[in-house]
Amino acid sequence: MKKILVTGGLGFIGSHTVVELQNEGFEVLIIDNLSNTTIDVLDKITSITQIKPSFFNFDLKDKTAVQDFFNSNDVDGIIHFAAYKAVGESVHIPLDYYENNIISLTNILQEMKVRNLSNFIFSSSCTVYGQADELPITENAPVKPAESPYGNSKKINEEIIADAVKAHKFKAISLRYFNPIGAHASAKIGELPIGVPQNLIPFITQTAAGIRHELSVFGSDYPTPDGTAIRDYIHVVDLAKAHIAALNRLLKNQQKNNYEVFNVGTGKGSSVLEVINAFEKVSKTKLNYKIVGRRSGDITAAYADTTLANNELKWKAELSLEDALLAAWNWQKTL
Ligand code: UD1
Repeated sequence: MKKILVTGGLGFIGSHTVVELQNEGFEVLIIDNLSNTTIDVLDKITSITQIKPSFFNFDLKDKTAVQDFFNSNDVDGIIHFAAYKAVGESVHIPLDYYENNIISLTNILQEMKVRNLSNFIFSSSCTVYGQADELPITENAPVKPAESPYGNSKKINEEIIADAVKAHKFKAISLRYFNPIGAHASAKIGELPIGVPQNLIPFITQTAAGIRHELSVFGSDYPTPDGTAIRDYIHVVDLAKAHIAALNRLLKNQQKNNYEVFNVGTGKGSSVLEVINAFEKVSKTKLNYKIVGRRSGDITAAYADTTLANNELKWKAELSLEDALLAAWNWQKTL
């Protein structure tokens, strides 16, 4: 049984990926410092798969703790999710973002180098493209200067991985996620925003649940068919499965280069108003919303060209926007 380390394995995308790894017969070890999740996610994962993953609660910035972990555990692959991820917050506390997101990465890569480990998957973001000049966005689109310290940390992390792969000959894949949404079909795991949600879908479900009074739609004057901004919303379970595909590519030595990058999206763009309409339909609720001004730093439109992931990873998003919104709503109702 191959052993896979999942950092941030109790977070939103991490927990769904752990479930899919266990479904595929991998043994999973989770490192998570619970900075943006709770320990009961471990029990929820166990109740979905009937397998309890090994769990290690420490901070990846702690170099000695990272060394100790690798001293006592052999792993065949690493999926690195653990990172701070709030765009707005990163503007206010940039140093915390750089310290956390960069030191955690280099601490792991150092251990990989020392121990000759390989097979590293990094959780990157379509934010590295900024507002791309052409849509859909291919992996060849230029990486643009980041709009936020969070976005910049993703860009820098990708550069660090590329340099480390070149020097130390291990294999790595960065997956550039578009907008991950939804929850597990069991409604046992999902997104757990702390405080007021910044992202669209948790704000929608909390408004429908009566926790928020009203959703603000940020901007209706974008050059899009209905004037609202367009994104590529991907079901988190589809996204989790993309990690399995990437991992198998690494484990089976199917790479064309030691470091590869793939877009992970559905290939389909949806506007904010389309998302609201789809949500109202699947949840059979009426959403209280109003149109307000644009949110600073937002782009007009982003959606993925998924040809490379489809062809090389033999992976493709299978679930619809409606599936994801219904799953997110069912999850919200359990909270
Ligand atoms: C944001 C980040 C992106 C990050 C992703 C991870 C920015 C600029 N980008 O993406 O780097 O990888 O989250 O989750 O923050 N919207 C509303 N009302 C709301 C919330 C959002 O109208 O209350 C709109 C936004 O203006 C946007 C769309 O919904 O057009 C999606 O927003 P959001 O879910 O925050 O994701 P992104 O901004 O695309």
